[in-house]
Amino acid sequence: MTLKLQHITQQFQDGDDTLTVVENLDFEVNKGELVAIIGPSGCGKSTVLSIAGALQTPTSGDVFINGKNISNYPKNKLADVRLKNIGYIFQASNLVPFLMVKDQLKVVADLNNTWDEKRADELLEAVGMSHRKKQHIQHLSGGEKQRVAIARAFMNDPELILADEPTASLDASRSEEIVALIAHEVHTRNKAAVIVTHDESVLPYCDIIYEMQQGKLVKQKETSQ
Ligand SMILES: Nc1ncnc2c1ncn2[C@@H]1O[C@H](COP(=O)(O)OP(=O)(O)OP(=O)(O)O)[C@@H](O)[C@H]1O
Ligand SMILES: [Mg+2]
Repeated sequence: MTLKLQHITQQFQDGDDTLTVVENLDFEVNKGELVAIIGPSGCGKSTVLSIAGALQTPTSGDVFINGKNISNYPKNKLADVRLKNIGYIFQASNLVPFLMVKDQLKVVADLNNTWDEKRADELLEAVGMSHRKKQHIQHLSGGEKQRVAIARAFMNDPELILADEPTASLDASRSEEIVALIAHEVHTRNKAAVIVTHDESVLPYCDIIYEMQQGKLVKQKETSQ
């Protein structure tokens, strides 16, 4: 198993009240699985994704990545797991503002000593951005930035891909292409991926669909591959 969340609870303090967003949640994603998480706004989907991506420490419970319990890892070891094992595609794409498109991919690869120019070109081609390689990020549209962020998430060849509304700023045909690309990576390279989405057109590409209900993830549908 690539990702396992065990007995996860996440509470937030809201004045005098305690808001329980995630309650004793268990969740697993295996190699070769593309999993979707759906549910209404505010139900805790992004919270679950940040916990799974070691970006947020839950109130209680354990997070396993590649079989290792990372819950008590010190900061530097956590940073290493994030860099080597996880590819993130988040709504605010967090691209570096002053770099060119291609350098956005190089910056993560350099941190990890894995720069592979051919792979960067292939990924930019796959997301339909190879013609804008030399463009500076601030000149791109929201959807174009999103596509660069998707290419970047794959650059370090992570075992686990976490995507929060990856198609939110894309048109329908581009959305399908992007999800098909994520599905292709998952199935041919035996990766695990979790996509949080409101976009119905994403769901046919996913192997398992979970819905967030009362702080837990409830399996809705499992399609055989
Ligand atoms: N750091 C925080 N402090 C306090 N409350 C928080 C914090 N982070 C999230 N919340 C609350 O937790 C709930 C779940 O938030 P979350 O962002 O996970 O929802 P979501 O399902 O991703 O929603 P959306 O579909 O709108 O993105 C919300 O009510 C939010 O206000
Ligand atoms: Mg969210």
